[in-house]
Amino acid sequence: MQLTLNSPLDMHLHLRDGEMLKSVAPLSAHSFAAAIVMPNLVPPVTTIEAVNAYKARILEAIGEERFEPLMTLFFKESYDFAYLEKAKPYISAIKLYPAGITTNSEGGVGTIDSAALQMTLTAMSDLGIPLLIHGESNGFVMDREKEFIPVYEELATQFPELTIVMEHITTKESVAALERHENLYATITLHHLLITLDEVAGGMLQPHLFCKPIAKRPEDREALLSVALAAHPKVMFGSDSAPHPQHAKEACGCAAGVFTAPIALPALAQLFESHGKLDNLQPFVSDNAQIIYGYTPPEKTVVLEKKPFRVPQKYGDVVPMYAGEELAWRIASVR
Ligand code: NCD
Ligand code: ZN
Repeated sequence: MQLTLNSPLDMHLHLRDGEMLKSVAPLSAHSFAAAIVMPNLVPPVTTIEAVNAYKARILEAIGEERFEPLMTLFFKESYDFAYLEKAKPYISAIKLYPAGITTNSEGGVGTIDSAALQMTLTAMSDLGIPLLIHGESNGFVMDREKEFIPVYEELATQFPELTIVMEHITTKESVAALERHENLYATITLHHLLITLDEVAGGMLQPHLFCKPIAKRPEDREALLSVALAAHPKVMFGSDSAPHPQHAKEACGCAAGVFTAPIALPALAQLFESHGKLDNLQPFVSDNAQIIYGYTPPEKTVVLEKKPFRVPQKYGDVVPMYAGEELAWRIASVR
């Protein structure tokens, strides 16, 4: 059995920098046509110069692969219309992090209220620049996403023309919020479609499945599956593939992030096939995002086949999800 995907897109990806960039970027560039690249470097990507320099380093790292890095700025309340107008040709979105909520987000926004963010959000809305949000409060870890929903709703109401993407949603409440506001969209990761908190911490602790937002309850995973498998037009695939070196994961003080870039398409094919929904993988992994972002990706044809794929133990110094295990699908060819 085979499945052909046209220009798969990863709408939430961490490529890092330096040696890590060189080792992980080719893996995404091989099987995806483009990806939204997160700006949470150290220091974060907050200027047009930094965006362009980072993009050049990504293009150098991927060599000959046909792959478009879609760049993002790290949200700052100081961005005004004039600056964003200048930035617009170089970026696809701006990513907002509540300060300190996840890896390298210390420079994020302290309090998110629409008055304080008015200038920047109005400019983004006028210029048609999507706002991507890591939506978690600083409350109890299992409730952080749910507690953030009123913020999403206030922003969606205040800025009805602004495209707002709830990044890596993990709860049934976020799925429900999608229906209440026309301008709210969401990315969903592979791992949140596959695991709950049980797989992370129900038995022996699994550091390679630890991420932010933490995987939630079975009913949350069911809600995510229902919209992803149906390729609901407001959801798109965003791996949130977030590589950390093995020593930073297998440590006291484990870094948050699951590395899925090289296994994402085979694992998605396996998941969608197991639910009899293979036909919906194309819209979930590309078409929906093209419509939401108004984006036409480079042409790339990825053929997947139902043949066993043994996931490597490591890619460079990074342990992937399903390390050493066998997946039912593999990438047969990329054109
Ligand atoms: C991401 C990272 O490592 O950069 N970590 C994660 O657990 N997902 C940041 C993020 O997207 O929260
Ligand atoms: Zn992320």
